[in-house]
Amino acid sequence: MFVSAQEMIKKAANGGYAVGQFNIDNLEWTKAILLTAQEQNSPVILGVGPRAAVFMGGYRTVARMAAGLMEDLEITVPVALHLDHGNFEAAKACIKAGFSSVMYDGSKDAFDVNVENTKNLAFVCSMYGISLEAEVGAIGGAEEGIVAEGEFADPEQCRIISQLGITMLAAGIGNIHGQYPENWPGLSFDTLEQIRKAVGKEIPLVLHGGTGIPDDQVRKAISMGVAKVNVNTECMLAFQKALHDYIMAGKDVKGFTPFEMFAPGLEAIRQTVREKMELFGSVGMA
Ligand code: 13P
Repeated sequence: MFVSAQEMIKKAANGGYAVGQFNIDNLEWTKAILLTAQEQNSPVILGVGPRAAVFMGGYRTVARMAAGLMEDLEITVPVALHLDHGNFEAAKACIKAGFSSVMYDGSKDAFDVNVENTKNLAFVCSMYGISLEAEVGAIGGAEEGIVAEGEFADPEQCRIISQLGITMLAAGIGNIHGQYPENWPGLSFDTLEQIRKAVGKEIPLVLHGGTGIPDDQVRKAISMGVAKVNVNTECMLAFQKALHDYIMAGKDVKGFTPFEMFAPGLEAIRQTVREKMELFGSVGMA
């Protein structure tokens, strides 16, 4: 069954590595990520965005589908099923549906509303043994249809939110969802250091927008207190390219069953997840 992300993230923070969150969009995606985590003996977080959940039929469908895969594939590594960028209502719906972890993203709400909702959810999550990720300051890019510039979280706001009983904190350090523009200046390690100091060692930090950040910057962020890294777009691009190549090579004419058509894309996702787990240092840490 799914576990809260609390223990795996604490272990990662103490061990100087990070756990990957890989977003899921359908059954095949979920299966590819679970099999790779098992193969790599790595803990993993399955991220579910609200739009992806609608696409799949709803939070209950996602929870039962993922739980079914865990059983049928005999997955024994720690897996958290996690709401990604949810509002207050989505977080409550996921708690009811059987998720083991939720992110309440109050970064677009007024700060006092973010504080109030985070506090309430921290109380509910603690009753159910569910981990809670909070967010301060919008992180840039196109996530769930929202577009913003790369943003930076205010360390003082981070300090306040970190004291509300949360498990982990997402805070903008110049990271952007989706692909990074050519002229992106890179992560702001100054901001990361200020946030780290403000929040203290007890609350691990989460790095969103994991697609396309140079490896050395990811490693440095992990060495400075990031214990969870989110990756979504990179798996989608890997899948798209492999499927595109398959079709452009005319292989779909004979190999038209979903098993055949999706196979190269799913292997490409697995390769991406493998590489990220190695980069994050979570291989063998289950
Ligand atoms: P990318 O799509 O840029 O990898 O970001 C994923 C993410 O942060 C999900 O919350």
